[in-house]
Amino acid sequence: MLLLCLITISFSSAQSQNISLGSSLSPTPNGRGLSYWLSPSGNFAFGFYPLKDPQQFLVGIWMPKTLEKVLVWSANRNGPPFSVGSFVTLSRNGGLILNNSQAQLEPIHLNSLPASSASMLDDGNFVLYNSDSRAIWESFDSPTDTILSGQTLSTKLSSSVSETNHSTGKYQLIMQTDGNLVLYYLVDGARTILTPANAYWFTRTQGKGDAVTLNLAQDGHMYLLDSTGSNIKNITNSQDRRSIYRARLEPGGNFELFLQNLEGNGSSLVWSAANDPCEVYGLCGFNSYCTLMDVTPTCLCPPGFVLIDPNGNSQGCQRNFTGEDDCRVKEGIQGCMMFPMENINWADNAFDILSASEEECEQACLDDRACMAILFENNQCKKQPLPLRYMKRITGSSVKAFIKTAGQNSSAGINGRNKGEHQKILLIIGLILMAFSIILVLISSFLYYNSRVGRHYQKLMKQVKNAPNEVNLRSFSYSELEKATHRFNQELGQGAFGTVYLGSLPCNTKVAVKKLEKVIEEGEREFQTEMNVIGKTHHRNLVRLFGYCNEGSHRFLVYEFMSNGSLASHLFKTESRPDWFQRVGITLDIARGLLYLHEECVTQIIHCDIKPQNILLDDFQTAKISDFGLAKILKPEQTRTYTGVRGTRGYVAPEWYKNQSITVKADVYSFGIMLVEIICCRKAIESGAPEDEVVLIDWVYNCFEAGELEKLERVAETEGVENKRLERMVMVGLWCVQDDPALRPSMKKVVLMLEGTVDIPRPPSPSSFISSS
Ligand SMILES: *[C@@H]1O[C@H](CO)[C@@H](O)[C@H](O)[C@H]1NC(C)=O
Ligand SMILES: *[C@@H]1O[C@H](CO)[C@@H](O)[C@H](O)[C@H]1NC(C)=O
Ligand SMILES: *[C@@H]1O[C@H](CO)[C@@H](O)[C@H](O)[C@H]1NC(C)=O
Ligand SMILES: *[C@@H]1O[C@H](CO)[C@@H](O)[C@H](O)[C@H]1NC(C)=O
Ligand SMILES: *[C@@H]1O[C@H](CO)[C@@H](O)[C@H](O)[C@H]1NC(C)=O
Ligand SMILES: *[C@@H]1O[C@H](CO)[C@@H](O)[C@H](O)[C@H]1NC(C)=O
Ligand SMILES: *[C@@H]1O[C@H](CO)[C@@H](O)[C@H](O)[C@H]1NC(C)=O
Repeated sequence: MLLLCLITISFSSAQSQNISLGSSLSPTPNGRGLSYWLSPSGNFAFGFYPLKDPQQFLVGIWMPKTLEKVLVWSANRNGPPFSVGSFVTLSRNGGLILNNSQAQLEPIHLNSLPASSASMLDDGNFVLYNSDSRAIWESFDSPTDTILSGQTLSTKLSSSVSETNHSTGKYQLIMQTDGNLVLYYLVDGARTILTPANAYWFTRTQGKGDAVTLNLAQDGHMYLLDSTGSNIKNITNSQDRRSIYRARLEPGGNFELFLQNLEGNGSSLVWSAANDPCEVYGLCGFNSYCTLMDVTPTCLCPPGFVLIDPNGNSQGCQRNFTGEDDCRVKEGIQGCMMFPMENINWADNAFDILSASEEECEQACLDDRACMAILFENNQCKKQPLPLRYMKRITGSSVKAFIKTAGQNSSAGINGRNKGEHQKILLIIGLILMAFSIILVLISSFLYYNSRVGRHYQKLMKQVKNAPNEVNLRSFSYSELEKATHRFNQELGQGAFGTVYLGSLPCNTKVAVKKLEKVIEEGEREFQTEMNVIGKTHHRNLVRLFGYCNEGSHRFLVYEFMSNGSLASHLFKTESRPDWFQRVGITLDIARGLLYLHEECVTQIIHCDIKPQNILLDDFQTAKISDFGLAKILKPEQTRTYTGVRGTRGYVAPEWYKNQSITVKADVYSFGIMLVEIICCRKAIESGAPEDEVVLIDWVYNCFEAGELEKLERVAETEGVENKRLERMVMVGLWCVQDDPALRPSMKKVVLMLEGTVDIPRPPSPSSFISSS
């Protein structure tokens, strides 16, 4: 029996410099058969890597002599694990085939050239050779989360979910084609758009050409080379040339270089991209801030906020009061104050920037329903909406942060309290520092302070998971909706694809229930589009989708109810026209909603049907974009699309009719048309108007050219128009409706121009191209 065991163990691997055609591996929980191929030194193995569950395996490359069995590469990491009965074969016709006993998977090497042998090399590279002994595929060319000494990275690394789950996680290190090496947090998984907002570390080497590579030398020197082979940046210095180095994008998001012993325990950390673990994004959920407590990153809620998941796992924090009225002072009920957050910062997401003193800034935020926090620096007051992202404790920053919390509202109250709070906060920090030494003291003093100060600091346990932003749609049954709408007895209106009814959910939340009824196929498409598009968005200026019903032939979408109806229903009626300031606010609201769709949300979305009918207003005249039935979702790396004409005549950009590709600039055009409508409170085309005023945009351009903008004011018939702002808005509108999409500004630029943060050059005639050709 013992002998048998010895034999089977000696069978379970083979040292082979040259793996020939027909060789195969299969997982061996009990040591039968061949489960991996070793490199000549035995330091690296290719084959079935045993997972925590001894019946499950990954196909990968690892260091078998190390105690941790360090995994450096894996195939099919997102597929289900392999079990007994699976096999890897270097087939007779030259493919490296994976079979999980249920099905044959994609071959590991997708190269069309047949291999004639393979080799597990001593540097950790697994290579397939053709009949001329030329390498046709190397594991070094398609790394997962690790690079080893001698390896070059020209694409990207993706972190693993955790130390034991090797599926693709939420972090990527990308060797960009602009030459910059960047760490990104994929806040929404694969749907995240890689924008600077999600980047937390980079080498600042952009502009160094499109073929920059990251290299790790034998001596642990990590550096960037450009296409001519010259060193453009040293990331780490040369180390002792001992053993082997490996750099891994860690499951927790840091990129780290280790000196790795090939045997026994021991990899020692040589270098980390983020010095402070709190620099890595996503460690703490939204509205919670990361701070080091006794070197352990910890997530805390700011005052006025409580944990979303009281059991500790990092879902982030939410306000401990709901409803926008909480800050309004009613008799006997407290208002709000701006609570100073010492040494705290977060990713700036200003929706409004003022120049103001600190006190004016606080007051401006208290006076603005949408403002939930401020960042103040150099007399710049940046109003912030929730959620606050990537909040962390920093020291030595000149930025001051304040968060709106329930409390006294009088300005005397603010100042008086501020001083007290300041001292209390300093005291808390001091105490916490002291308390680090004894964990017991920490806890008791923390509790003591909590009760004494009456502030609701919440300690989050050490954070492991990070899935703060999943938007979950609720599924309603038909009978629930029937009840909520009192058998569909109150109709709110007719949409493009069906009727909208008023409903009310058990907790008294009013909702708009849209029944999709038109041609079944189109209705179905709209249903899917809306679910896919707005189910995943969340923005103050987009109508919120609460849920859906998909039962038998019933298709319903359930939205937040917008009490003030559509912009179209007010704008073009003399009696309910919004005044000038409301119109300015509405334009900014829409612009920000569009900016979010185009640049800030999970995938780039082209709305395709921007018009006043699709802008809804809530109780407070906040404008929200609705009706995503025609929207086009672009894939993460796609920026343009070809599709049949969508949208509504009069608002549709010219490229739709020219069969050109469609980009987000098509929405910018529609926005421009709508912007001049909002300015003038008049429809884009009005056949009853004097001949030269029929087409609004042409008339607006003529007025602008002639310096006669006051004519527009007269048309609007509303008071309080500010000439300077009117001119800005007209110029923005004219830029947006340029025939050439490339000339139209991005929504980001539009927002900046409307806010007055950037200068606006004089726009050319919108159709200069047409008239000149
Ligand atoms: C592997 O072995 C085959 C036949 O034994 C030989 O033709 C081939 O050159 C070898 N390949 C390598 C890379 O040594
Ligand atoms: C892969 O596995 C399935 C199920 O065992 C089997 O039907 C199939 O023939 C296998 N493929 C190869 C190439 O052996
Ligand atoms: C690994 O993580 C992925 C993504 O989070 C998950 O879908 C999968 O079920 C996990 N696998 C295991 C074995 O826990
Ligand atoms: C990187 O370091 C090497 C020495 O290790 C030095 O020769 C080289 O100039 C450095 N390159 C840059 C871009 O600093
Ligand atoms: C490995 O770890 C064990 C205990 O953790 C220790 O006794 C041993 O000395 C270590 N070996 C090496 C090579 O560091
Ligand atoms: C939340 O606010 C309520 C009153 O507004 C208060 O009674 C409660 O203690 C607060 N909860 C936390 C955890 O701060
Ligand atoms: C809050 O503000 C209102 C209006 O500005 C004022 O009437 C009220 O007295 C203030 N409350 C307190 C507690 O200062």
